[in-house]
Amino acid sequence: MTGATAPRNTLSSTSSSLLQRTLLGNYVSDTPPVWMMRQAGRHLPEYLALRASFPSFIDFCLSPQAAAEATLQPVRRYDTDAAIIFSDILIVPYAMGCDVTFIKNSGPAVTVPDEGIAPFNEKRAEKVYEAIRTTRQELTKEKSLIGFCGLPWTLWLYITGIPGEKEFAYARRDAVSFTEEALKALDLLTDAVITHAKRQIDAGADVIQLFESWAGLAPKFLRESFITAPATRVVAELNAYAPDVPVILFAKGLGEGVADYINAVGPQGAGVDPFTDLRYVRDNTTAILQGNFDPHIFFADKATIAREVAAAKELMSGRGYVANLGHGVLPQTSPDKVQYFIDCVRD
Ligand code: CP3
Repeated sequence: MTGATAPRNTLSSTSSSLLQRTLLGNYVSDTPPVWMMRQAGRHLPEYLALRASFPSFIDFCLSPQAAAEATLQPVRRYDTDAAIIFSDILIVPYAMGCDVTFIKNSGPAVTVPDEGIAPFNEKRAEKVYEAIRTTRQELTKEKSLIGFCGLPWTLWLYITGIPGEKEFAYARRDAVSFTEEALKALDLLTDAVITHAKRQIDAGADVIQLFESWAGLAPKFLRESFITAPATRVVAELNAYAPDVPVILFAKGLGEGVADYINAVGPQGAGVDPFTDLRYVRDNTTAILQGNFDPHIFFADKATIAREVAAAKELMSGRGYVANLGHGVLPQTSPDKVQYFIDCVRD
């Protein structure tokens, strides 16, 4: 049973980063910790150079030295308060026996073996844990190392969906037509996510972020069983396993409905997407909030960036807050603008 609690490595409890203390509610400052979703990746020239030596993206993720290097690149360049381990949410289906490839200009393709998805095989994800151990050694204790997982519904859509298909149209119909089967798969995925997150904590991750990137695609009348219940089980198990490792729950596409979802799931931290009113979520939750700058902010002029950052800091002042985007850094983003954004947060 993946939910069983085993003694864990206490490496993470030696970290007392600004991010970790903020998320645990032990630190509130007018200078919030700052990091960015997808801070590693295609907007960085040093990433593109490293990436060029790996034809397969999964092979890249499963090369501990390269993954550690990609993880550290944005921290070196921007001095962000956290590193997020360079990996992908689709490592979980990979470790459940699926074949995972990335098709240029179309996105991921996940092929399920004829026998169906298998229980999570930790050995197939071992290189991720090795990358975490390597990265942790290179980071000072002021910096958090964030481990992450996709949540079951989002993973299920990638597993079941047709590559390149718009908004997982067929998978979503199947989820409603064959709810029992979908729920069974979600349950197996929930076990897998819990195990993968625990192993990342054992390896030295001191914060876990959970991505429900397609929360908004769950039909409202099934939201409770498709997204709320699985996330609640994941957060409860992780909190019981490692109370000093805060969990950030990031769900995209629920609008202001995200407040009810956050309150039901009960994580320490919660990401807010760029389409949602941060003030509303602030006033209707007690979680430490993270977000929610639109990634397009980096295409605006510096005066706009400064104004937007000042407004968010003002809005969140006196309340634990993590400055971040509401979704990932876009390709073609200028690193100079990213640096300016970070300078504004710390100003
Ligand atoms: O810096 C970081 O944020 C750490 C690394 C990271 C990646 N993927 C690397 C990556 C993280 C946290 C993810 C999470 C992820 N992966 C999500 C959740 C976040 C979100 O965006 O909502 C999702 C949905 C995926 C699935 C995924 N991986 C897609 C849809 C794609 C293809 C589209 C795209 O953005 O390229 C990927 C590939 C991927 N994952 C890349 C990177 C840097 C690009 C691959 C490349 O360099 O060729």
